Amino acid sequence: MIQRALPLTLSWMLLIAAAISLDYLLHRVDLPWIGRYLGVAGTAFVASSFGYSARKKKIVQKGSVRLFLRLHCNAGWIGTLMIVVHSGIHFNALLPWMATLFMMTVTASGHIGQYLVRKLREEVRIKKMETGIENDRNEDPEREHYWDSVTLKALEKWRAIHMPIVSVLLALCLLHILSVFFFLNWR
Ligand code: HEM
Ligand code: HEM
Repeated sequence: MIQRALPLTLSWMLLIAAAISLDYLLHRVDLPWIGRYLGVAGTAFVASSFGYSARKKKIVQKGSVRLFLRLHCNAGWIGTLMIVVHSGIHFNALLPWMATLFMMTVTASGHIGQYLVRKLREEVRIKKMETGIENDRNEDPEREHYWDSVTLKALEKWRAIHMPIVSVLLALCLLHILSVFFFLNWR
């Protein structure tokens, strides 16, 4: 358990440390305005992380699900980092701050989901070894529904919580971006 949970906990803590350091660095070199544009870049990274959903729904047909999940995690992590730096230290508007809080929550929840996926993969690998079935590393472990696995059920429960939080996040982001384009003088 520690072997699986520790790297994910460190990854989450590293995200916060990296955001604080990057923001500090931008202020030190007198370039804090870059943070404003990191909002667009971060949004692009997070949007690209939805490639994983497209792969799962077979809208994208090529590439292993495993690879797409790795890209999803990396794009989500980098996107969140950029958005936290974009949020900066000023506090003027509640709505975008709610969006940032939700994004941090979704990323934390993503780490928990990753823990469950890794645990499930490990269980499937061991069960396949026991039964002598060859293990395909690129296969989606959830397709093996015949494993009556507690972890698989936990993953389903996790998804039932994760997806509504993602929906609220998307709504808040959309409101923030729309209000920026309505009210901001970009000159
Ligand atoms: C296309 C994407 C985005 C654009 C164009 C954008 C643009 C902006 C702009 C122009 C500001 C004001 C900056 C300033 O006062 O210097 C701002 C502030 C902020 N944005 Fe964004 N943003 C984007 C995405 C996001 C996302 C996805 C989040 C959160 C999930 C977010 C959270 C915030 C926060 C927390 C602030 C600070 C609000 C405050 O001053 O209290 N932004 N954004
Ligand atoms: C703001 C960032 C993120 C957003 C918006 C996001 C969004 C999502 C969404 C919508 C899903 C459901 C995919 C589907 O079944 O179609 C999902 C699943 C998942 N995410 Fe994220 N995520 C983010 C960050 C992360 C990070 C950083 C990680 C890894 C550390 C991660 C790990 C996972 C895992 C393991 C799943 C479940 C995989 C599965 O259902 O097969 N996510 N995420």
